[in-house]
Amino acid sequence: MADITAIKLNSNVKLQMGTFHVAVWGCQMNVYDADRIRDLMTASGYVEQNEPKGADVIILVTCAVRAKAEDKVFNQLGSWRHQGIINDDTVIALGGCVGSELAHQIIEIDPKIAIVFGPRTAHKLPAMVAQYRATHESVVDVNAEALEKFDALPEQGQRGPSAFVTIMEGCSNNCTYCIVPHTRGGEESRPEQDIIDEVITHVANGVKEIHLLGQNVNSYRGLDANGNVSRLSSLLYEIAAIDGVERLRFTTSNPMEFTDDIIQAIADLPVIADSIHIPVQSGSDRILKLMHRDYTADSYRELIRKLRQARPNIFISTDIIVGFPGETDEDFAQTMQLVDDIKFDASFSFIYSKRPGTPAAEYEDNVPLEHKRQNLYALQAKLEEYATMYSQSLMGTRQRVLVEGISRKSDQELKARTSNNRIVVFEGSRDLVGQMVDIDVIKVMSHTMKGRLVGQGMNLS
Ligand code: 5AD
Ligand code: SF4
Repeated sequence: MADITAIKLNSNVKLQMGTFHVAVWGCQMNVYDADRIRDLMTASGYVEQNEPKGADVIILVTCAVRAKAEDKVFNQLGSWRHQGIINDDTVIALGGCVGSELAHQIIEIDPKIAIVFGPRTAHKLPAMVAQYRATHESVVDVNAEALEKFDALPEQGQRGPSAFVTIMEGCSNNCTYCIVPHTRGGEESRPEQDIIDEVITHVANGVKEIHLLGQNVNSYRGLDANGNVSRLSSLLYEIAAIDGVERLRFTTSNPMEFTDDIIQAIADLPVIADSIHIPVQSGSDRILKLMHRDYTADSYRELIRKLRQARPNIFISTDIIVGFPGETDEDFAQTMQLVDDIKFDASFSFIYSKRPGTPAAEYEDNVPLEHKRQNLYALQAKLEEYATMYSQSLMGTRQRVLVEGISRKSDQELKARTSNNRIVVFEGSRDLVGQMVDIDVIKVMSHTMKGRLVGQGMNLS
């Protein structure tokens, strides 16, 4: 175990506090939080290791959105213990959404967990670790002001050509199935200038693509430099104007607040990527109402029509929940119909999972699990057909791609992402990593594509 009395002498000379490993589950907001935790721990004198074995501190950034996601973290800890990867000296810090959902209960479930933190208290981790090491008493702290962590975090480390930037924390929509308003708290937007400063720092570090994040980015309402409320559309224009931002994405968009000013920004700003994620959840108005989603299947269709008019090449992806309490075959058929009407290019679909404390957990659920499973498979088969159709439509096209790194399968190949969020691998030299280049799509596989760098005559097929 590392020496806890080690202190940070000055910004250039740091004594080593020990090693840490971060494991992350769940959404992109968690990926952002995990990266910021890495920055923080490193700035506090800890050294990151990619493998859990032997790490002094193991930090788990968890997801509570479905019961399965929640179980994963406890299963992972069990298997690491069983394999001797962690032992009684390992300081285990469990955080993220399961941290704030279960808080003190976590120590009852697993007394060997030393620290429990939440999405809002991630910035306190080094102090919590120091406190635990000094006292050997468990430390649970999941409550803080929503935006406190952003002020307390060090400057971001450099991690490739695409960077997440969180623009708001929490969600105030209270969809009846969702635990997020409880785990991440109510919606709060970061001030516009803080976001712009973060983007400028990224671009200065060579980042080309900015991905704005929030549970509900369409309801962004941060203050601008004059103290006026700025909406997502204004933020998009501001960020698009920053020199060096070559591609801009934003996730997750709620259909409820996808106002015409945002659609206009998409029409006006070519830097916004050709891909947008808009969870629909269900095609049945009755179920949408029970979910407390304030739109109808037809208003969703109309939104997509307007978006496609504004940006004909835009790819639309979605989330769908199957087997919400009381979902009938007729409700499910309406979801299938909506999928046929919209033809999503990509999607995530899930069986409804009852989350404690949410309103839907009290609803009567008389649909057998096996029936829900059958419906999920039927839905996924249809979604897969459309995803394949979209991939095939890219065959032979020229695409501007951002080169993210070396392909995992072959170090002769580079891995890049198209504007419409498809992965392409192609032969090219390593110094293209981090650059935007043009490729021709020469082969389409089920989830990736092969390309040829424009201006090079190699045959890769
Ligand atoms: N059960 C199943 N899926 C859920 N999601 C959120 N809560 C639940 C739940 N209780 C899904 C929604 C959301 C995505 C992130 O997770 O589809 O858009
Ligand atoms: Fe959950 Fe609804 Fe908020 Fe999304 S919009 S995080 S589904 S409450």
